Amino acid sequence: MEEELNKALQQRKSVNALRQLSVENDLIDFCSNDYLGFARDGELKIQIKESNLSGYQNFIGSTGSRLLTGNSTFLEELEQQIATFHNAESGLIFNSGYDANIGLFSSIAKRGDTIIYDELVHASIRDGIRLSHAHSFSFAHNDLNSLKDKLQKARGQVVVAVESIYSMDGDAAPLQELAVLCKQYNASIVVDEAHAAGIFGKTGEGLVSELGLEEAVFARVITFGKALGCHGAAVLGSQVLRSYLINFSRSFIYTTAMPVHSQISIKNSYDKMSESENIVLKFSHLVNLFKQKVELLDLNGYIESKSAVHCILIPGNDRVKEVANYVQSKGFDVRPILSPTVPEGKERIRICLHLFNTESEIDGMLKAVKEKQ
Ligand SMILES: Cc1ncc(COP(=O)(O)O)c(C=O)c1O
Repeated sequence: MEEELNKALQQRKSVNALRQLSVENDLIDFCSNDYLGFARDGELKIQIKESNLSGYQNFIGSTGSRLLTGNSTFLEELEQQIATFHNAESGLIFNSGYDANIGLFSSIAKRGDTIIYDELVHASIRDGIRLSHAHSFSFAHNDLNSLKDKLQKARGQVVVAVESIYSMDGDAAPLQELAVLCKQYNASIVVDEAHAAGIFGKTGEGLVSELGLEEAVFARVITFGKALGCHGAAVLGSQVLRSYLINFSRSFIYTTAMPVHSQISIKNSYDKMSESENIVLKFSHLVNLFKQKVELLDLNGYIESKSAVHCILIPGNDRVKEVANYVQSKGFDVRPILSPTVPEGKERIRICLHLFNTESEIDGMLKAVKEKQ
């Protein structure tokens, strides 16, 4: 077995695509998912620490799965708070976005049904689809004609899976047009809002809410590990969907509920987001500033985005690594995204913007990219 594993590792190494863990550094952060700075927010830390803990909330762990001892009034009220915030009927918390997508897609579509997914959806959606017994087809990224073609071939109940903001490109799905098309074909849309929550909507509700499409989508997945600065996720939808997942979603049923500290952190992050004034507006100003600078520098290969995620294509694993190393040597933490994570030829520098990034940091980082491009 070791020999076989080593062969696979050597193969990765030979194309300069070996993944390795790295520990924290003191470079300026242009790569974490902490878009709003909540994970490092001093006030939030104090609030979490000083949360009025009593009874169950004093526990370190949740002590069991949700169906046994891991449930609580606190957790159910938190789910309702999250659902209300996002203008949904109900919410169900999962231990991560990965778990939420696995548990949702593997359970809602059955043998004889069809799941159609954008070719760029996250690995967790793909894995969830694989675990279901449904037929599945991908459609070309953001291409409504390609989706229509697949809808015409679909059988049984039909689910269409998209991300409102795509994690590797930062671009947005054409949600309004998708909603119209899916209605025509009686297909249920599931939108993963991992990179849109906290960034779009009046106070960070996400892109579905910003566009007023809450009723048009069947389910949304909101993750807490990005703009909310915590960990975990929720599936939003109807009460029926919530009950169904409690009964049939294996990544919800067969696991210990998240630790109480995480639940309290999520509550405090939602309270902060509800109370923060103009946080979405401030973020969109930052994005505009960034885009003006990209244009001024005339950077090649920029993928159009209005989100927190921005990419500059630099084809080839060797080349993109070289550019990323150079930008890092200038003090800025940007990461290369290599094939096979993205298709060959689409390797890129992925830049994540944060409310705490200053204009001069953005200038310095982009100039460094330009120097080496
Ligand atoms: C679009 C998308 N969905 C789901 C996930 C998984 O979320 P989590 O990190 O909470 O498991 C991610 C994060 O990597 C993501 O980018």
